[in-house]
Amino acid sequence: MNKNKKLPLGSTIGILGGGQLGRMLSIAASQLGFKTHIFDPNPKAPAKQVTNLSSTYSYENKSALEEFANNVDVITFEFENIPLETIHICDKLKNVFPNAKSLSTCQDRVIEKSFLNTLKLPTAPFVEAKSDDEILKSLNSLAPPLILKRTRLGYDGKGQEIVYSEQEIVNIASKFNKIPVILEKLIDFKLEISIIICRDIVGNISAFDPAENLHQNGILVESRVPASIPFSLASDAVLISSKIVNALEYVGVMGVEFFVTRNNKLLVNELAPRVHNSGHWTQSGCLINQFEQHIRAITGWPIGNGQRHSNVLMRNVLGPAVNMLPNDCAGSTHIYGKDDPREGRKMGHTNVIS
Ligand SMILES: Nc1ncnc2c1ncn2[C@@H]1O[C@H](COP(=O)(O)OP(=O)(O)O)[C@@H](O)[C@H]1O
Ligand SMILES: [Mg+2]
Repeated sequence: MNKNKKLPLGSTIGILGGGQLGRMLSIAASQLGFKTHIFDPNPKAPAKQVTNLSSTYSYENKSALEEFANNVDVITFEFENIPLETIHICDKLKNVFPNAKSLSTCQDRVIEKSFLNTLKLPTAPFVEAKSDDEILKSLNSLAPPLILKRTRLGYDGKGQEIVYSEQEIVNIASKFNKIPVILEKLIDFKLEISIIICRDIVGNISAFDPAENLHQNGILVESRVPASIPFSLASDAVLISSKIVNALEYVGVMGVEFFVTRNNKLLVNELAPRVHNSGHWTQSGCLINQFEQHIRAITGWPIGNGQRHSNVLMRNVLGPAVNMLPNDCAGSTHIYGKDDPREGRKMGHTNVIS
């Protein structure tokens, strides 16, 4: 397969995963004249409301995946918990961007942090534990306060516990019965920022301005730009993110989350090998937003001008609060079309500019 091929107008983009990110990718693709094909086991996946074609099969269904891959021109994914084997089935038939190496690195918090440390990029100190016993033993090398996270399949703060004492860890260890975890030093950060960065097929890089992110209970509540950090820190964050995407030979948009420590140092917290919630502000703050940028990169088109023209406050709308959105005309409103507004579920977002 020719990796550098520029897809012609009207080509079809296959998207694994049909959540809100897949939905906004599909909208951006359609704006550029592409068709999309959403693959998601959930028949009610929000992206299926805005796509030309869709498939409703499990990510393990090899023949369905092969048929999907045969019917599209390039493949991408909208979340990192797609089984790696799914990507391998697809990438035998079509280019998949980002590549399998990027996905496997970001699927496991221990592999991800070790990869960052090999690049000499600082993270919170951590240890891996594969059993309750190992969790207890890890106390010899790392003292509380700590945050325990499942190494795989966690998101939005799910599968995480903060522990302030050795006794608390003893009580909690059995809760992670046989589930591999990472124990990280709890960082008393000043603030959290993220960089949304895009690398195209020939290696050009474009990064959006850093966003300052507020999380509550591990879930993103709001992102604002500009972030209240010095310019030097913003450019360091972009340089670090560039190093990461280059090392992975990454194609597409990646979200890189950072902690800014009390003494203005950057620690990389997490990588998201996809468009990212903290990049939704780009829909109102830039000529070319993260979704269009990702579609451009994976189709071999030139990536665009991601310069920011406005200050933006992006607010996530969680759970039943979505029902108030039709009354809100202060900002640009995005509703994801999910029919069950469970408490804490991401249902939409608004962007207010100034
Ligand atoms: N080591 C840490 N120290 C302090 N806070 C943390 C740490 N790790 C995570 N958090 C908090 O929890 C949030 C979610 O954790 P994260 O590792 O990004 O997992 P995910 O977003 O996949 O659920 C972070 O944005 C941050 O607010
Ligand atoms: Mg995170």
